Amino acid sequence: MERQFPNLTRPITIARTTFRNRIFSAPMGGTDIANDGCIGPKSTAFYELRAKGGAAAVTVSELMVHPATDGSHAYHLDESILNSLACATYTADAIKRHGAVPSLELSHSGMFAGTYMTDKSRQKSMNQWGPSDTVRADGVQVKALTKEMIAEIVAAYGHVAGLAKRAGFEMLMIHGGHGWLINQFLSPMFNHRTDEYGGSLENRARLAIEVLKAVREAVGPFFPIEFRMSGDEFVEEGYHLDEGVRIAQMIEPYCDIIHVSAGTYQKTFGITHPSMFTEHGRNVYLAAEIKKHVSKPVATIGGLGDPAQLEEIIASGKADIVYMGRSLLADPFLPRKVAENRPEEIVKCLRCFTCMAERAATSTRRCTVNPLIGREMEGDEIQPAPVKRKVLVAGGGPGGLYAAYTAARRGHEVILCEQESRTGGILKSEQALPFKHEMYELAGTYELLARRAGVEIRLNTKVTKEYAEKENPYALIIAAGSVPLVPPIPGLDGGNVVIVNNYYLEKDKVSGDVVVFGGGLAGCECAIHLGMEMAEKYGSAEEAKKHVRLVEMRDELAPDANVRHRPLLLKEIEKYVTVYTGYRGLEVTSEGIWCEDKNGEKQLVPGQSVICALGQRSRTDVVEELMDAAPYVRVIGDAGRVATITNAVYQGYHAALDI
Ligand SMILES: Cc1cc2nc3c(=O)[nH]c(=O)nc-3n(C[C@H](O)[C@H](O)[C@H](O)COP(=O)(O)O)c2cc1C
Repeated sequence: MERQFPNLTRPITIARTTFRNRIFSAPMGGTDIANDGCIGPKSTAFYELRAKGGAAAVTVSELMVHPATDGSHAYHLDESILNSLACATYTADAIKRHGAVPSLELSHSGMFAGTYMTDKSRQKSMNQWGPSDTVRADGVQVKALTKEMIAEIVAAYGHVAGLAKRAGFEMLMIHGGHGWLINQFLSPMFNHRTDEYGGSLENRARLAIEVLKAVREAVGPFFPIEFRMSGDEFVEEGYHLDEGVRIAQMIEPYCDIIHVSAGTYQKTFGITHPSMFTEHGRNVYLAAEIKKHVSKPVATIGGLGDPAQLEEIIASGKADIVYMGRSLLADPFLPRKVAENRPEEIVKCLRCFTCMAERAATSTRRCTVNPLIGREMEGDEIQPAPVKRKVLVAGGGPGGLYAAYTAARRGHEVILCEQESRTGGILKSEQALPFKHEMYELAGTYELLARRAGVEIRLNTKVTKEYAEKENPYALIIAAGSVPLVPPIPGLDGGNVVIVNNYYLEKDKVSGDVVVFGGGLAGCECAIHLGMEMAEKYGSAEEAKKHVRLVEMRDELAPDANVRHRPLLLKEIEKYVTVYTGYRGLEVTSEGIWCEDKNGEKQLVPGQSVICALGQRSRTDVVEELMDAAPYVRVIGDAGRVATITNAVYQGYHAALDI
């Protein structure tokens, strides 16, 4: 068989371990942690799915090596804890039995211990230990580790490494990046010590090297040890790529793979986890540069997911290994689809940060486009339905498409009707925003998967009560979505107003300065896009700000955006858009929007074009009409309650499983 991506699918042998391809699963997890720090069964299932999906190595995330100085925000491995080794062994086993190499990330958070605790007050009351005495930006005191404590931590790395090997892990990742303890020592931003652990780069790298030596001593030769580092910290006071290269050269003799990530969790979150506002593979150049100066295999990571790009990275020698985090949540089977020449079936990551935000909010995991994430134990195999039924799905948005796809995989006869000429529902409007391209693409991928699973799609077909009764299905899934909310504000029906959902169709109507009316997520994202276009036209973001304005009645923008996406979104808004919060829109005219400010004063927010982004409302009329049109009826997504795509897909999946 001729593989479409021959470099990506080529095995690689490192430290006498053969990896089946070049796609490795990045550490992600840290949920389902038992009170004593054991890896819970839900986490095991979470990692197993990526092994099943074909990744060559699967990294179990953040095992804290020294709980006494590290406020236990993630897993531990400690033979004095009943079950600790057993849980780790079950996890390693679950990865191994699908042909992947199980790897475990060893870490220490240093002065940011307990970062992932949902109870932030507990985190603040903990002792924080770092390279130097300091006060963190949030006011928390950090104490400098003594040399004795450093020696204890180094020994703990070795001890835990030995336990990990005993549990069946076949590789270790030492976390030396992203602003955690080893990175804090490497970084002049955090490390102000005057002893042999501070000052020169040789001294700052001492902890990393001592840790690597201790780990090697524990696991012996021919056991892959990977060092995860940030190639550049991307802040003035931190280190930059030139030092990144030197760090890689210094640690090279003590490890087998140099894993080049970027930035720090605390200061450059949107670079470490490249956001939708950055280009795919924005950090690859760091690995490529480091690779020129070392001889050990180099791995790259950051916003990757497109097989052609991944193939090019390996083929051109920029890196030997590509790691992915979020893309393997969106589609754990990405590696198998690549190997089996089915790239068109890959469900792409939206970089919406639902995965990370869910952990911050509830200590669980979730993915917008993959309803199974965080819930893998509920069964990742679609079970054939005991009785095959006829299923009618009314509406071809993401929820309807996913419901149809799932029902067809269970063996049902499925018809999906979409009243418009294309599927996608609300996602169609995303095509106008380049940074949301994957969200737009999602409907196409779901449609393809649904068709291949056997769904019959009828376009330009509205499901009325008569239509449904004539089709006579057993199950009817109402996925009719929502429609834009257009309140009776004078002028909103004017020729200079474009509803945000129609912006992709009516872009040509938008000219001159623009006022976006409504600062929810849709309004903010459209304003950012317009700002980017204006920046191009007028030569700078500063200029763009004079031409794009955003009016919002509330005091804050996009309050419903998730806690990871929102700060990045607001940064883009700040760059490109002039914002008027606390402004209530009274009337739209050809000169802009007349508003009432907080003091009750009338103000004109000027602009020749207006984008109306005042929210959505459920299509309750369709729901009411169809509720009795079949024995089993289920309402999913916006049709029931206006919410997120995450919600629509999740409900669609389960509505189909319940038939
Ligand atoms: C849900 C989630 C959890 C993560 N947890 C960890 C972790 O425990 N340890 C770690 O080193 N990095 C963690 N990361 C960072 C990833 O390993 C990776 O470096 C980052 O997401 C960039 O890769 P990506 O763009 O392919 O997602 C996490 C990322 C995500 C999205």
